[in-house]
Amino acid sequence: LSVQTSPCVSHIHWHHGAVGRLEKERLLQQRGCLLWFTGLSGSGKSTVACLVEQMLLAQGKLTKVIDGDNLRHGLNNGLGFSAEDREENIRRAGEVGKLMVETGIIAIASLISPYARDRQKIRSRLAPGDFIEVFMDTPLSTCEARDCKGLYKKARAGLIKGFTGISDPYECPEQPELVLQDKGPDGQLLSAQDLAETVIGYLQQTGRLA
Ligand code: PPS
Repeated sequence: LSVQTSPCVSHIHWHHGAVGRLEKERLLQQRGCLLWFTGLSGSGKSTVACLVEQMLLAQGKLTKVIDGDNLRHGLNNGLGFSAEDREENIRRAGEVGKLMVETGIIAIASLISPYARDRQKIRSRLAPGDFIEVFMDTPLSTCEARDCKGLYKKARAGLIKGFTGISDPYECPEQPELVLQDKGPDGQLLSAQDLAETVIGYLQQTGRLA
């Protein structure tokens, strides 16, 4: 695992606690992991993330959704949408997710996280298998047609600068663990429920729910 150091960290030592992750996972009867939903605004990240949380609760699993929009009301209050602020936004969300994973929780992050490098940094902070990148591969045209919050209209009108997909880039994941599309291989429409079931299936197949 990579350890991020800053100059002020040199006189600070790591304190090992008395209770480890395994004991917590045994208590919870589950294995912690960080599901990381990435995709355009309006791609359905938060909808599917919340459905996954509901389904896992029904199986008796402890989860927590970490929603980018919501974090910006508290922990990440004050951060904007410049590349630097998005990087910090994502770093903090990733570190919160990591703390949850260490507590045995199934953390479900939902952030646009448009830059591959920022997502890669989080991956490198977690043990292999603990970071599960879920790409909500909804085309821009669909997200824009939905325009649930009216933000695309504003971005097109130039009222929001640096809007992801319009005036700021979105770098698609190259090797995500999961790609979710709203159309199946035969062109049939898939519901958010279908997509959430795919995520649950992945967790089962990879032994994360054992
Ligand atoms: S990021 O890029 O990961 O730091 O963004 P995130 O914390 O997920 O916040 C995305 C939500 O903020 C709203 N919003 C914008 N999105 C993209 N670009 C710009 N410039 C912007 N300004 C505000 C938007 O509602 C996003 O919410 P979602 O849920 O993704 O639609």
